Amino acid sequence: MTQNSNQRDGFSGRLGIIAAAAGSAIGLGNIWKFPYITGEYGGAAFILVYLICIAFIGLPIMLAEFVVGRRAQKNAIGAFKAEAPGSKWFLTGALGIITAFILLSFYGVVSGWTLHYLGLSALNSLADQTPEQLGNVFGTFIADPWLPVLWQVLFMALCVAVVLGGVKNGIERYSKILMPLLLVILIVLAIRSLTLPGAAKGIEFLFSPDFSKLNMEAVLAAMGHAFFSLSLGMGTMITYGSYIGKQENLGVTAVQVSVADTVIALIAGLAIFPAVFAFGIEPSSGPGLVFITLPNVFGQMPFGTGFSMLFFALLAVAALTSAISILEVIVAYLDEEFGWKRKTSTLVVAGMVTLVGALLSQGNGILSWLKLPFLISGEVSHMNIFDWFISLSDQLLPIGGFFIALFVGWKLDKKAVADELSNDGKLTIAYLAAYRITLKLIAPAAIAFVFLASIFGWFSP
Ligand code: PHE
Repeated sequence: MTQNSNQRDGFSGRLGIIAAAAGSAIGLGNIWKFPYITGEYGGAAFILVYLICIAFIGLPIMLAEFVVGRRAQKNAIGAFKAEAPGSKWFLTGALGIITAFILLSFYGVVSGWTLHYLGLSALNSLADQTPEQLGNVFGTFIADPWLPVLWQVLFMALCVAVVLGGVKNGIERYSKILMPLLLVILIVLAIRSLTLPGAAKGIEFLFSPDFSKLNMEAVLAAMGHAFFSLSLGMGTMITYGSYIGKQENLGVTAVQVSVADTVIALIAGLAIFPAVFAFGIEPSSGPGLVFITLPNVFGQMPFGTGFSMLFFALLAVAALTSAISILEVIVAYLDEEFGWKRKTSTLVVAGMVTLVGALLSQGNGILSWLKLPFLISGEVSHMNIFDWFISLSDQLLPIGGFFIALFVGWKLDKKAVADELSNDGKLTIAYLAAYRITLKLIAPAAIAFVFLASIFGWFSP
């Protein structure tokens, strides 16, 4: 890829951008993580807080990342250096690079799980099992020292292959076709799940909020997940923003991506929770929830095995289009700031991430005795290294987002922001005043408050 800024590789047009940015946003976050944390934090009330976070924090910050990226035409660190030369703001980008590394290390592991389940479906070995048996299948698998690592390595190799292809031919081409197909499969699954006997309880769980279960820890989880799900707070959307053409409407793009991401998460919820209750599975089963619940749903469908294979294959693809966007953050940085060749940076970064991930994976098995301290709700709790990294990323992303909001709200020139949003005055942007206030005050204040309140346990019983 040429580093010269007027020959930057870029997305080919409207559909390409949406597909790639939505491809980044839509991933394991929507289909694996959203359902299981919704289950852990009690359902509808959690979802409501999540939706509020998307609208008032996530969406404005996505737009802020687009503005920084497209204006600077640079990677996550380079963009801050270009827009605020000589200042310390580049550290926001540096935090993003570190977060990307942490995130991708466990993301690759969970993505490997989906490949394993694709294999299990193909062998038909998930059929006719009780939820309890499926729970054991999952537990035994993730505790294995080798098998998850094998799949993780395979998945990371796929990522490398796509990232080496560059933006247009690699990232974009795959997103465009496969994401809509995933949506169709999810809708079919949701219909099957909703028509199971006993599904009504799941609908209630999803839509009738019980605020007594909501504590500050749940609010932080909702906020952290809003960042995770929209791929915010670590420079992904800065990097992708730098590939967006100057004629595109950034505001509209941000809304479309956020809506698509949210809709997919909610449909995933509709596919999973009615079935969770219909089959008597614990909603709070944790990271295994999707892997335990859905095979039961497939068992109740004509062509269940085929659907199961298709679903896990598409989930792996959704994970792939997200993982490459995480990898791209680090690769673009090394290429542009240090002049590394794309091939070298991709291989080195993916190799290191895979090693760390393989180690984390042992936290579910042979290293499960190793617990790291984590401060939440004013107390130090202990978690295995795998869960610890997931929780850490839930805290790092909002911190990154906080600084990005402040950067665009206070530091960037007012006119520059207006020009970027309006394409130099070609578009009318009625939302500008409200947007400024959101970035200057509302989003940063909300992030800081939720963060401190949950860590120190304010308002917790
Ligand atoms: N948004 C992706 C998902 O929901 C994960 C991701 C996070 C991707 C941060 C890029 C940056 O699966």
